[in-house]
Amino acid sequence: MLKICVLVSGGGTNLQAIIDRIADNTITNTEICGVISNNHGAYALERAKNSGIPARCISPKDYESRDVFNAALLDGINEMKPDLVVLAGFLVSITPDIIRQYNGRIINIHPSLIPSFCGKGYYGLHVHEAVLARGVKVTGATVHFVDEGMDTGPIIMQKAVEVQSDDTPEILQRRVMEQAEWIILPAAINNIANGKVSIVDGKAVVVS
Ligand code: GAR
Repeated sequence: MLKICVLVSGGGTNLQAIIDRIADNTITNTEICGVISNNHGAYALERAKNSGIPARCISPKDYESRDVFNAALLDGINEMKPDLVVLAGFLVSITPDIIRQYNGRIINIHPSLIPSFCGKGYYGLHVHEAVLARGVKVTGATVHFVDEGMDTGPIIMQKAVEVQSDDTPEILQRRVMEQAEWIILPAAINNIANGKVSIVDGKAVVVS
């Protein structure tokens, strides 16, 4: 049984997709051992509680410095004893300390086709604003392992989504979630839980 700890910052629709796909057995061999938010007001915390999943907030606002917050975050993750840490809309940078301790055991969902529209400043709605500003016709989402760079770790799964000429950032964000994120994040977790993902020569390989 793969124990996953899900880190969230906001609405938690990706968390909900994981909860729902475990419930309907699309994801197997997996249990959510806890949810951590950096944001007291995150609706994702309610979603966790509604499903009986242990949830807590570890906010930088409650600590005297960033270092103390980062240490508390690492402690909070360790207390849940996860096999895998899932960043599902977690908009805080993960420190090298955490990455070292969970090397190859942290994954992230990003709302574009990496390496496009990723890295510093590209998160949430900003990604979709940049996609529309550039006028690309195809975007999508990516699930990748987290390494010490920003959005640079081995890519596990990607799914493309068409951009429509009358899209707003909000409409495009919703389509990318529905057609890509809520599908590939659960699928990636299921593949990891069932031993189908390995890293070969720095690249993630998924066996079908
Ligand atoms: C999602 O679109 C996710 O891909 C994005 O934040 C949103 C969270 O939504 N993550 C990033 O931009 C990370 N760079 P949710 O809280 O409803 O799952």
